[in-house]
Amino acid sequence: MRLLAGTLLALILALGVPVSLVRSQGTKYGLWTPDRAHSDAQPIQWTGGQFEFPCASTKSLFKSSGKFIPKNVIATRAQLIGDTIYLALPRYRKGVPATLVKTNVKPGTCSTTFKPYPCWDLQEEGNCKALQSVVDLVVDQNEVLWVLDTGIVNTLETPVRKCPPKVVAMSVKTGKVLKTVSLEGLTSSSSRLQYLVVDYAPDGGCFVYVSDAANRAIIVYNLQADRGFRVVLPKAVTAGCRSRDVLYIALIRRDCGSTELYFTYLSTSKLFSLKSEYLRSGVADGRILDLGKKPSRMVIIGTDNGSAIFFRNEGDAEVYRWDTNSTFAETNFKPVYRSQTCQLVTHAVPDYKRNTMRVLQSNFPDYMQNRVGCGAIQQLGLMQGCW
Ligand SMILES: *[C@@H]1O[C@H](CO)[C@@H](O)[C@H](O)[C@H]1NC(C)=O
Ligand SMILES: *[C@@H]1O[C@H](CO)[C@@H](O)[C@H](O)[C@H]1NC(C)=O
Repeated sequence: MRLLAGTLLALILALGVPVSLVRSQGTKYGLWTPDRAHSDAQPIQWTGGQFEFPCASTKSLFKSSGKFIPKNVIATRAQLIGDTIYLALPRYRKGVPATLVKTNVKPGTCSTTFKPYPCWDLQEEGNCKALQSVVDLVVDQNEVLWVLDTGIVNTLETPVRKCPPKVVAMSVKTGKVLKTVSLEGLTSSSSRLQYLVVDYAPDGGCFVYVSDAANRAIIVYNLQADRGFRVVLPKAVTAGCRSRDVLYIALIRRDCGSTELYFTYLSTSKLFSLKSEYLRSGVADGRILDLGKKPSRMVIIGTDNGSAIFFRNEGDAEVYRWDTNSTFAETNFKPVYRSQTCQLVTHAVPDYKRNTMRVLQSNFPDYMQNRVGCGAIQQLGLMQGCW
């Protein structure tokens, strides 16, 4: 169990849940004025989780055997392709029948039923060919869905390492698994894998980056060469950090096509960046840029697939946008969203079809404290204001 000791803390922190209750939000960086909502994009809300079971008897079997406990289901990360949304449902508690699902965001959708993705077979706990607990997902430019599976289930109850961690790539067009990358040799028993990024080099080579908070490392995997390595970050990256809590990573695209990885620990005071070319060649030493002091404990919740990073402050419902081509300073943080219901955003994702940004939010702190009654209230909202 020692290996899992830090997992719960990391989980609490990963999503920026305050130890106390959610504070009422102030507009620290200026006035936030809601815009008119995009007319063909409405927020969708659901409680707990409902699934499309193959048949009614499967559902009752799952329920009676404790494999389906609707109030234990929560979506924390999302990706959109057209009208389909893919959701990560980490197995924080027992009774989450599927950890990767899809559903529809078509206007007029009023109930949300999850369809296990790509199929039921890949959701089986204890089968290491299947997904155990998906904590992050990315859709790339080739419509490939990449998911990070930690292999650890029941994180909030009694964590169990069911399988080695892995990254799985699936074709969205066919639903076929294209590639499974085992991270076993690149991690240790104390690893805490949290975030996933997919990057294409100028020559088309595909790379995957995974943050390992406990080891102060970024795992780099070269798909073409089918090999990976660990880039251990310098000690300065954790300076002032009480614990190696959450290592956020965000990939930024420059107009010229080059990419950079921005990263920071939740409880450190500084933000850093590194050109992806250095990361890909494993020569980070002396090339990491120190972007300066963070004004607060930032929870990085996503990018616009361009130069902007979205974040909120720990425990705060207000979301800000910072364009990384401007100086890292409070004057350049623009308020872009605030949940009307004090829910906390766990992911900000581009909605390419509607040319807008979406936010996945929930009463995650209540879920953590097991105070959700019928289940966590989750919403796929729309970013408002100017972004
Ligand atoms: C992200 O941006 C790049 C560069 O503009 C583009 O080629 C790619 O298709 C975008 N990603 C997605 C998933 O659309
Ligand atoms: C950053 O990019 C935005 C739009 O992409 C542009 O309007 C702005 O001038 C840029 N800022 C800097 C400092 O280059």
